Amino acid sequence: MIEGALGEPWPAGARRDDGAVVIGGVDVRDLAAEHGTPAYVLDEDAFRARARAYRTAFAQAFEAIGSGVDVYYAGKAFLSVAVARWAREEGLRVDTASGGELETALRAGVPGAEIGLHGNNKSDAELHRALDEGVGRIIVDSMVEIDRLAAIVRERGDGPAPVMVRVTTGVHAGGHEYISTAHEDQKFGLSVAPRADGSSPALDALVDAVGRPELRLLGIHSHIGSQILDADGFRVAARVVLGLRADLAARAGALVDEVDLGGGYGIAYLPGEVPLDPARVAGDVATAVAGIATELGTPLPRFSIEPGRAIVGPAGVTLYTVGTVKPITVGTTDDGGTFVRTYVSVDGGMSDNIRPALYGAQYHVELANRVSDAAPVLVRVVGKHCESGDIVVHEAYLPGDVTAGDLLAVPATGAYGRSMASNYNMLPRPPVVAVSDGGTRVLVRRETLDDLFALDQG
Ligand code: LLP
Repeated sequence: MIEGALGEPWPAGARRDDGAVVIGGVDVRDLAAEHGTPAYVLDEDAFRARARAYRTAFAQAFEAIGSGVDVYYAGKAFLSVAVARWAREEGLRVDTASGGELETALRAGVPGAEIGLHGNNKSDAELHRALDEGVGRIIVDSMVEIDRLAAIVRERGDGPAPVMVRVTTGVHAGGHEYISTAHEDQKFGLSVAPRADGSSPALDALVDAVGRPELRLLGIHSHIGSQILDADGFRVAARVVLGLRADLAARAGALVDEVDLGGGYGIAYLPGEVPLDPARVAGDVATAVAGIATELGTPLPRFSIEPGRAIVGPAGVTLYTVGTVKPITVGTTDDGGTFVRTYVSVDGGMSDNIRPALYGAQYHVELANRVSDAAPVLVRVVGKHCESGDIVVHEAYLPGDVTAGDLLAVPATGAYGRSMASNYNMLPRPPVVAVSDGGTRVLVRRETLDDLFALDQG
């Protein structure tokens, strides 16, 4: 394709022009010349459009059932000051999972009241900072944390801290299916799995929180997984959480106002994959919760969700320059021929995208600076790290004349790429360059060796 729109999994609006990939109106050849490679390219309009799509889809679906919804952008997927600002400008709040993410949202001017703070092991400093800034909700993750937070509030002499209790429903979703198990064997939250007497760690924590003058219990939080591609898991979790809310009302007389259903909305990584449609999932979940609340005979709470990947993932593309190209014979065919896999090395790798090595994640890749008539060859795109698991794309076809100096673009890297990047092998981390309307703006500059040596005390 020489001209035309690229479609999923590329950012909306990405296209080829004169053979080259163009993102946010910027030709990747110009991008590479100006900002170097590897580079994370973030399409601002795509980010904003996705943020709006989630906000409006959920607002409409939940208004239709007589409830309401707040959308928190999960900053762990990728957060910078500009990105936190974009999220807020699109009507989203910001979900943070550490003091550093909290600080980023605050620097962007997001009011504390519009920020949530998560974490299964928050430090005293993080809790104090959240209280200093009037964070709208601290999602407590254990009985120990409830005690600690109450003690901190007492010591400070503050008013009650707004909290949600994170519970685990036994529902685990991600990929194409979900599983629901009674007993949890992981570190997050408090389990709803009932003991013999009908109580549960989650219910105990909620009852305890209701009775604490230092805490104001806003509601119940549940996050079931990530890269979820249908509404089933959310429906099952919502049933459990709304049931727990009714149990709490029966036991402690408190019907909490809010329920957070977490993040996890899935995206397309490869051509042909069908991402979760926000309007569809919002409608499915809203219909389900309305039915459950009617069955339980409880009025609906206000809801919130925390999408990260679904907002920023498809807005990001990583741009690399090809270096060594090495054909490797990996087998023989029945007719006596050889089976060759061409290893195409690029100037980044597992330090800028750990997801293939960590999760076996699959990505799409295209030759981005030109088109070619050369017959496609089976390639593995690898990085430059001293590790054979340093794979960017396990399997793809690229034109057989791909060569040093060419640009490769890997779409759908906006989420959990830069935010999980490392300096393995002393590689400076790539910049994040925003593109919009044919212009570029560096959101996070490229690291230099001086940045790295600034930490090395000799
Ligand atoms: N809320 C909570 C409480 C979470 O734990 C997470 C993700 C989210 C929201 C956002 O989930 P999302 O909408 O982005 O799926 N590093 C992994 C993903 C880890 C997700 C952890 N929690 C990856 O690269 O796939």
